[in-house]
Amino acid sequence: MRHLAVVLLLLLLLAALAASQEFTYSGFRNGGGGGGAGNSPNLTLNGVTELRPDGILRLTNETSRLIGHAFYPSPLRLLAGGAAVSFSTEFAFAVVPEYPKLGGHGLAFVVAPDPRLPGALPSQYLGLLSAADVGNATNHVLAVEFDTVQDFEFGDINDNHVGVDLNSLVSNASASAAPVNLKSGDTIVAWVDYDGGAKLLNVSIAAASASKPASPLISFHVDLSPIFLDQMFVGFSASTGLLASSHYLMGWSFKLGGGAAPPLDVPSLPSLPRPAAGGKNRTSAILAAAFSAFVALVALAGAAAYAAHRYKNRDVVEPWELDYGPHRYSYAELRRATRGFRDRELLGAGGFGKVYRGVLPGKPPRTVVAVKRVSHESRQGLREFVAEIASIGRLRHRNLVQLQGWCRRRGDLLLVYDYMPNGSLDKHLFGDGLAAARLTWGARVKVLRDVAAALLYLHEGWERVVLHRDVKASNVLLDGDMSGRLGDFGLAKLHEHGANPSTTRVVGTLGYLAPELTRTGKATAAADVFAFGALALEVVAGRRPIEPRAPPEELVLAEWAWERYAAGEVGAVVDARLRGEFDAGEAEAAVKVALWCSHPAPAVRPTMREVARYLDAGGAAEVPEPPPPPPPPPVSSGEVGYYDFVHSYPTSSYERAAAAADGVTQTSVATFPYSPLSMRSSHVSV
Ligand SMILES: *[C@@H]1O[C@H](CO)[C@@H](O)[C@H](O)[C@H]1NC(C)=O
Ligand SMILES: *[C@@H]1O[C@H](CO)[C@@H](O)[C@H](O)[C@H]1NC(C)=O
Ligand SMILES: *[C@@H]1O[C@H](CO)[C@@H](O)[C@H](O)[C@H]1NC(C)=O
Ligand SMILES: *[C@@H]1O[C@H](CO)[C@@H](O)[C@H](O)[C@H]1NC(C)=O
Ligand SMILES: *[C@@H]1O[C@H](CO)[C@@H](O)[C@H](O)[C@H]1NC(C)=O
Repeated sequence: MRHLAVVLLLLLLLAALAASQEFTYSGFRNGGGGGGAGNSPNLTLNGVTELRPDGILRLTNETSRLIGHAFYPSPLRLLAGGAAVSFSTEFAFAVVPEYPKLGGHGLAFVVAPDPRLPGALPSQYLGLLSAADVGNATNHVLAVEFDTVQDFEFGDINDNHVGVDLNSLVSNASASAAPVNLKSGDTIVAWVDYDGGAKLLNVSIAAASASKPASPLISFHVDLSPIFLDQMFVGFSASTGLLASSHYLMGWSFKLGGGAAPPLDVPSLPSLPRPAAGGKNRTSAILAAAFSAFVALVALAGAAAYAAHRYKNRDVVEPWELDYGPHRYSYAELRRATRGFRDRELLGAGGFGKVYRGVLPGKPPRTVVAVKRVSHESRQGLREFVAEIASIGRLRHRNLVQLQGWCRRRGDLLLVYDYMPNGSLDKHLFGDGLAAARLTWGARVKVLRDVAAALLYLHEGWERVVLHRDVKASNVLLDGDMSGRLGDFGLAKLHEHGANPSTTRVVGTLGYLAPELTRTGKATAAADVFAFGALALEVVAGRRPIEPRAPPEELVLAEWAWERYAAGEVGAVVDARLRGEFDAGEAEAAVKVALWCSHPAPAVRPTMREVARYLDAGGAAEVPEPPPPPPPPPVSSGEVGYYDFVHSYPTSSYERAAAAADGVTQTSVATFPYSPLSMRSSHVSV
């Protein structure tokens, strides 16, 4: 009995000790401040985390696939008598993405048994877990994520959300951060409060200028006792993917055992330098404001006119559409097939719109289809486009993604395609793990032959030449047998009709765009061949045609491949992930064909017929020596903005995860024509 009393007393004492624990970091400046121990950078840093001289902790910079961790150095007792203890924390952070609208990937407040988080992966894993232990109860990880990328694999709700994750990256509770924009680059304050008695976890966020909101963003009933171990570490984790953000932490306070964490004095925390508001910037800001006001006015007038127009135009089938009758699905049918275009049926999203999985009604086995919902901006181009789609619908080739039909409703065009169970080539080339492993050398060569066969058919196998205009890895889909199928042919045409009918916009994706396109604006078969060359190099090398984060001499894949080829090192071009398991003859043939296709002069490039023949021959000896490219033009600053008029749209792909996460590299390049990247690539393009 006495023993029990002593033990109880000890336990109480321990609990009291634990309860007394609190700390505050008002900035992380080394030795400064006078706030005692709380103001030293007394943290366990891992990964690429670094302390800046201004006292801001930088967990990641804008380089891809980084992880940064920062943890309180000693473990905390988060269990008392087997029950999770109350805690409260407040912190100030900022996320500055490389491209203003595209985050990569996010930051999380973490409670974990080991501050090193062993085995954790970057990208969508946020530096928290590995692919193998997602969801495993042995993880004992609580994370509150501030995520700036919508990851379909983990069921993220959008690309600006807060989530509570238990042992997983699939959030148990999540909410949109709006109206706070996580990737604005501004300082954001967050509070995480756990009430061990009520078993309630609250998360709140606010802009630096605002105070703590009266009601939390997330209030989640959960018993954290099974998650916590006796000794746990608290801290932060951030990661980047192919797209990257800098993740910063400006201040942090924490209190264990009930009661609110010491409030941070946000204005006195170190803050990131804002981009200088110089005269030029201010003028452009005013111009931009005036312009947006004008646009808003025009849009308002347009919207009014459109509303009136739309009223007259509801779901009617115009007589000319009946000419294409057999292909027409009713809107109701497609809505049923996709269960009301539910997000759960979403296969991917791209510039053309979203792609949904649909199951057509009928006798089993029911037909599974992919329904692409295209929003178009030009009403006058529509009739011509539908005619094009309908005639393209008659194209039949085993290496084309078959168009089954279409439906038009107001501003939406719904295109129904065969469903491709293996998703896009892009996913297999750049995804991790299983998908990549299936893409052996043999599979890669087969896909290239398949795509070449499809393009040959489009160019020559039909009554007239059909140009694809947007050959790229995300438009190559893999069917059940891993055969390559080219999708989205002809769609680019819709986007060529801009707001101003007298101009033609160049459509395509940076890196696959033939150089002459930007001068002439005219799509040609030779431009398709150029894009095929870029694709072929991409498949052989396992690298994107333009790799923003490669060293400058490797930025443009084709240029780099030329150098390796000229130096007689064809093997060096081949994807290292194949670990040397490839056929040297086939590789040399593929590289030669690809370099030939990538020639800047359209007249020099081979035709698709020649390409298909050389790829099928399988040996390097049969392929003629590719003509060397002329020396690159001298670099001049006057060329900046060369690509400014290039209108490009994002990867329109079928895959779930990569589309949202890593697959958008090309998008970022193309959608932000003023980025340093497009300026660089404007004069280095082959
Ligand atoms: C760092 O923090 C730990 C835990 O609070 C403390 O024991 C240690 O003395 C601190 N070290 C320094 C250098 O302040
Ligand atoms: C980002 O950090 C990594 C690792 O510390 C470093 O190698 C890289 O050069 C940094 N990148 C930039 C743009 O500062
Ligand atoms: C969970 O992790 C443990 C230890 O890491 C492992 O032994 C176990 O097989 C994992 N369970 C699952 C379902 O992956
Ligand atoms: C959290 O979600 C996972 C699945 O994502 C589930 O297995 C687990 O039971 C959930 N935990 C709680 C406490 O809701
Ligand atoms: C959590 O939020 C609820 C309101 O949703 C509030 O009643 C409760 O006191 C909060 N708990 C903590 C620990 O902040």
